Amino acid sequence: MSKETKNGNLRAAKKNKNDEFYTQLSDIEKELIHYKNHFKNKIVFCNCDDPKESNFFQYFALNFSHLGLKKLITTHYEKDSQSYKLVVEHDINKDGVINLDDAIRTDLKGDGDFRSQESIEILKESDIIVTNPPFSLFREYIAQLMKYDKKFLVIGSMNAITYKEIFKHIKESRLWLGNGFQSGNAYFKTSHHTDSFAKGVYNEETGLVKFRNIVWYTNLDHKKRHEELLLYKTYEGNESDYPKYDNYDAIEVSKTKDIPKDYKGVMGVPITFLDKFNPEQFEILGLDDHRAIYPKLAGCNSINGQKIYRRIVIKRKIDKIQ
Ligand SMILES: C[S@@+](CC[C@H](N)C(=O)[O-])C[C@H]1O[C@@H](n2cnc3c(N)ncnc32)[C@H](O)[C@@H]1O
Repeated sequence: MSKETKNGNLRAAKKNKNDEFYTQLSDIEKELIHYKNHFKNKIVFCNCDDPKESNFFQYFALNFSHLGLKKLITTHYEKDSQSYKLVVEHDINKDGVINLDDAIRTDLKGDGDFRSQESIEILKESDIIVTNPPFSLFREYIAQLMKYDKKFLVIGSMNAITYKEIFKHIKESRLWLGNGFQSGNAYFKTSHHTDSFAKGVYNEETGLVKFRNIVWYTNLDHKKRHEELLLYKTYEGNESDYPKYDNYDAIEVSKTKDIPKDYKGVMGVPITFLDKFNPEQFEILGLDDHRAIYPKLAGCNSINGQKIYRRIVIKRKIDKIQ
């Protein structure tokens, strides 16, 4: 299958604003296991979640006591009509556990849009926002979390790394990648496959649609982020493997695993590097830039006149150079 076709569903999601696909409980569990300590006594808000479909709500309601949550709130989005919220906080039915059966449903005034004032009021009272937001509104979604200085763990396309609005937060260490999906592939539940998803990526039997290059974005610290990337290659003696860019004094490292352990200068690496990024080991200087977001780095996108893929521009932390 061509790369074009594989990526077709993501483009379709953007183009058609078809954001109706749902995260599997197993994927939520696999990621959330790395953040257990962050949730004790916290208010969690899932602000893009139809409780009937959303496994985020299910996950937090089921694990309410185990995580030691203070409160769980979820809002359902109902385009152009009145919607509702669900809140889990107390052992309403007095059965000794706080779970799904203790959810209280209250009508919202509006449609549950995450940008609506009533949703923002819930956001303000919440500590951690966890969901899979609409990909078509990802920039706006992250901007709102940043504006209200919220902790978050959300799913998005890896491509969003290259959005200037997102990358600036990555560069300034306000946002990083989570632990991730197996090889970047995510399988979401959907019932809207026929008109908007590319043929070949939807499995009729499972009802799952495959998306490539899906990642978790977060500002919650986790262990993997502090694991040192083991480097085994050397620049000295292998200079020809690391050509310099045409207009920028940096070497091209086309695979993250090939970052040389003895190079002190600036390097261009694929955006997938972020999955291995440890801020104690590397410094992010910018993004190669055809669109001149960081004009000083302009030119870090071609070698001998040949255009290359997007590159993150990095440097080793000096004390880490062997
Ligand atoms: C990718 S789906 C994920 C659903 C759910 N979070 C999950 O993973 O199971 C995105 C959800 O956002 C909802 N949505 C779309 N626009 C929204 C908006 N402006 N405000 C809040 N939710 C929205 C959609 O209805 C959809 O349910």
